[in-house]
Amino acid sequence: MRLCVFAFKGGVGKTTSAIHLATFLSARGRVLLIDGDPNHSALSWAAEGTPPVTVEALERVSAGQLSNFDHIVIDTPARPSEQELSDLSRGCDLLVVPCPPTPSHCERSSSPGRRSSG
Ligand SMILES: Nc1ncnc2c1ncn2[C@@H]1O[C@H](COP(=O)(O)OP(=O)(O)OP(=O)(O)O)[C@@H](O)[C@H]1O
Ligand SMILES: [Mg+2]
Repeated sequence: MRLCVFAFKGGVGKTTSAIHLATFLSARGRVLLIDGDPNHSALSWAAEGTPPVTVEALERVSAGQLSNFDHIVIDTPARPSEQELSDLSRGCDLLVVPCPPTPSHCERSSSPGRRSSG
């Protein structure tokens, strides 16, 4: 399964969700967690211990590498461009959009038109 975690808003739990989903999937196969955020938060998490998954920066992942894994989870930065979102969506089986349970967060997390306000 290829799973992408994204939200237009920052600080809503993208990285936390990606880490938890990747760890969950690690019981079911080999998992690559791709850190697509320039802040490299997922890589920082991995550096703190011995993660049950392989964590790699997006810019270091090669296409040939992907076939070595049963599951791929992608963490993304806030405010992806329309092109980035389109590219990510096309290659994934599931898009996960985490957001705190308030109407304003949910609206801003899912609506491209609200990118500049969140
Ligand atoms: N389900 C949750 N319940 C409570 N706190 C959470 C939950 N998920 C994430 N957090 C907390 O919210 C904060 C932001 O989480 P996280 O870094 O995963 O967000 P993010 O969307 O990846 O942020 P950024 O846009 O900066 O990359 C962290 O302090 C994290 O511990
Ligand atoms: Mg993050």
